[in-house]
Amino acid sequence: MNPDDALRWEGELTLTRHDADTGTTFVIRVDSIRHGRAAGGTRAAQYASLTDALADAARLAEAMTLKMAVSNLPMGGGKSVIALPAPRQDIDAATWKRILYLHAENIDRLNGAYWTGPDVNTNSADMDVLSNTTDFVFGRSVGRGGAGSSAVNTAVGVFEAMKATARFGGMGGFEGLTILVQGLGAVGAHLATMAAQAGARLLVADVDSERIAWAQEFGCTPIPPARVSTTPCDIFAPCAMGAVIDRAVARRLSASAVVGAANNILAEDEAGSVLRDREILYAPDFVTNAGGAFHLVGREVLGWDADVVADNTRAIGRTLTQVYEISVAEGIPTDAAARTLARRRTAAPTSLAG
Ligand code: NAI
Ligand code: PHE
Repeated sequence: MNPDDALRWEGELTLTRHDADTGTTFVIRVDSIRHGRAAGGTRAAQYASLTDALADAARLAEAMTLKMAVSNLPMGGGKSVIALPAPRQDIDAATWKRILYLHAENIDRLNGAYWTGPDVNTNSADMDVLSNTTDFVFGRSVGRGGAGSSAVNTAVGVFEAMKATARFGGMGGFEGLTILVQGLGAVGAHLATMAAQAGARLLVADVDSERIAWAQEFGCTPIPPARVSTTPCDIFAPCAMGAVIDRAVARRLSASAVVGAANNILAEDEAGSVLRDREILYAPDFVTNAGGAFHLVGREVLGWDADVVADNTRAIGRTLTQVYEISVAEGIPTDAAARTLARRRTAAPTSLAG
């Protein structure tokens, strides 16, 4: 990765801290607080360098700013990255508890400018632990007064985005469509279930054989993780990590559309242009995966009930259709069109569904 990507960053604030005892490096990046306090999840993963961790946090924080803006949510964007010394599953419970304590201390020092929540390798139970030390936490378990996991509502929103894409792309209903889901975790598993129930044929890829065995039980066809970009399908749904589509992958992708949950699906802007040139509809992730933010911010900040969360999550399909229309009208890739819509929406008075 180019170190300039991490350093040439125009966000508001960066906090870093290293803990020698656990070998963990903590990064919090606040991209924008122009439209409210920054919010974004905590991602725990291994990184090759501090530069990589900083760059990932910057991109993820910017995606949160765009997600809040295009979703008309009154928050800014931020993200935490916990750079682990070993794979998450190899970290013992006592070490993980100390890591969460230090992370909560860091969040608390920002005094409410940044609110965290669950993301890859963190869940509601971890949010409960953070909340013992800091108040600035979304997604605690329901028993502890939080909104609980955001994953199901994220999947519901991605499914709405798929329906809108199928309509806009002239693919019709789900009957007979082939959908390839990469990553059968908290979001991907729900998404695969909904798509299969709607009549689609499901192809699935995961590095975890237990997830694959689970999916085979309800009729999904496994494909090797390395073949996701060359296996023909109607809709490719990246629901694992980001940066899955660079220019080379965009040139060989054998799908009519890309609609997934993963944050930052495109590894580079040019990949969006290649997809557009090849007439592959790309649904920008910060539009499609906003169901989690509607669930967490809606419930915990705006006081929404389940019906209002559902109304706003359904509206993801309409927002995405607007993005496709702007893309066609202005002759720009859908990612650029979604940024245009986010700018327009933050310039106009807020209007949320419900
Ligand atoms: P998760 O950690 O529960 O699931 C990820 C799945 O991907 C796991 O089953 C893992 O084994 C699999 N995986 C990892 N590398 C893979 C590879 N190379 N090929 C195939 N499978 C692979 O994560 P979760 O919560 O389901 O999130 C998925 C994505 O959606 C992440 O990028 C996350 O940032 C994004 N997202 C999640 C939201 C939420 O509410 N959970 C909200 C918005 C975005
Ligand atoms: N990490 C999730 C996302 O990327 C859910 C989340 C939303 C976490 C808002 C905190 C705040 O959307």
